[in-house]
Amino acid sequence: MQAIRIHPSQSPSTPYSPTNPAPSTALHIDKIPIPKPPPGHLLIRTKASTIIRDMLTWPEYYHQENTIPGHDFSGIVVDPNDSSFSAGAEVFGMAHANRASTWAEYAVVKSAETARKPAISFEEAAALPLSAQTAYEALFVHGGLGLPARFARERVDKAEEDEQRQERKQRVLVTGAAGGVGLFVVQLASWAGVHVVAASGSVERNGEFLRGLGADEIVEYGNDVGNFDLVVDCVGGGVLERCWEVLKDGGVLVSVDSASFDFVEVHRSRGIAREGVKALFFIVEGSAEVLGIIGDLVDRGILKSFVAASFPFERVQEAYDYANGRYEGRGKVVLTI
Ligand SMILES: NC(=O)c1ccc[n+]([C@@H]2O[C@H](COP(=O)([O-])OP(=O)(O)OC[C@H]3O[C@@H](n4cnc5c(N)ncnc54)[C@H](OP(=O)(O)O)[C@@H]3O)[C@@H](O)[C@H]2O)c1
Repeated sequence: MQAIRIHPSQSPSTPYSPTNPAPSTALHIDKIPIPKPPPGHLLIRTKASTIIRDMLTWPEYYHQENTIPGHDFSGIVVDPNDSSFSAGAEVFGMAHANRASTWAEYAVVKSAETARKPAISFEEAAALPLSAQTAYEALFVHGGLGLPARFARERVDKAEEDEQRQERKQRVLVTGAAGGVGLFVVQLASWAGVHVVAASGSVERNGEFLRGLGADEIVEYGNDVGNFDLVVDCVGGGVLERCWEVLKDGGVLVSVDSASFDFVEVHRSRGIAREGVKALFFIVEGSAEVLGIIGDLVDRGILKSFVAASFPFERVQEAYDYANGRYEGRGKVVLTI
């Protein structure tokens, strides 16, 4: 099969690492054997995966040579060495952060990280798992928001219910709201019936888009935004530093920004952190159950997937550079395989 792998540095004295990340020109298509799925795993014919900004800086990619990158996948089950799916099933999911592998014609994935693909294209389905599950976990696992009681409800029913309980709505601030993760945080928080304030670098650029996702208010960084029960930060840096100030006592501050993995300790040591606020960074876990909920919400028209651009496998170097620039489109950069 064909697979994209990170080739080692040409200079043995400066091997690639998170601090000396492989450039896009280190990504090559190689011919390698099709892997065999152990029990509890599926062999899938991959149809699409995604490129994530800065993924070639991730430490897991340098634990061995010739890593095949890629976590998101959509595709067709070829060899189900497990009873959860049959051959031919159209699926989507996310190979765990420690097991990249999906930039390849075939990939072995766990059935516990796979679900039935919603009725959208393979490209749109591949754009969901990593970002939408990160958003889901930020809100409902770490952020303490309650899930709507019945997933089966239509949006219109929920809107009526929301009106009745307007007075006691929780307030959630999302930074980087128009980005890959943020656009799912906004949609899922809106589905949960909370008051959603979406923050971005430009209301002019992102305002209409964010309102369409269900944001109640759209603000730019530095605006006076009131106070919040929960802040989900997708930006880090100075934006994250200022989030402490806008939390209510007993509020929760969750950052998913990769560079902010140690922000709680760093902010404590600099005297920025506030007592009485629960703060944390986490790495997305993902599960078949959450994927099932996400797929269901997509099929019901409650959650929308966004593909900013789609590149064929052969153009991976160009695609990686594109994903790392400031591109115009909304959502994920997808590789089709
Ligand atoms: N912890 C986890 O498990 C996990 C999972 C997924 C992602 N992540 C991390 O979460 C963070 C957000 O991911 P994402 O996919 O939402 O990112 P993204 O879409 O690339 O960017 C988020 C926001 O940053 C701004 N932005 C876009 N391009 C930029 C550029 N070239 N330079 C500076 N700012 C730019 C945009 O906001 P404006 O338009 O408003 O300026 C955008 O909405 C990243 O650090 C990612 O690695 C972590």
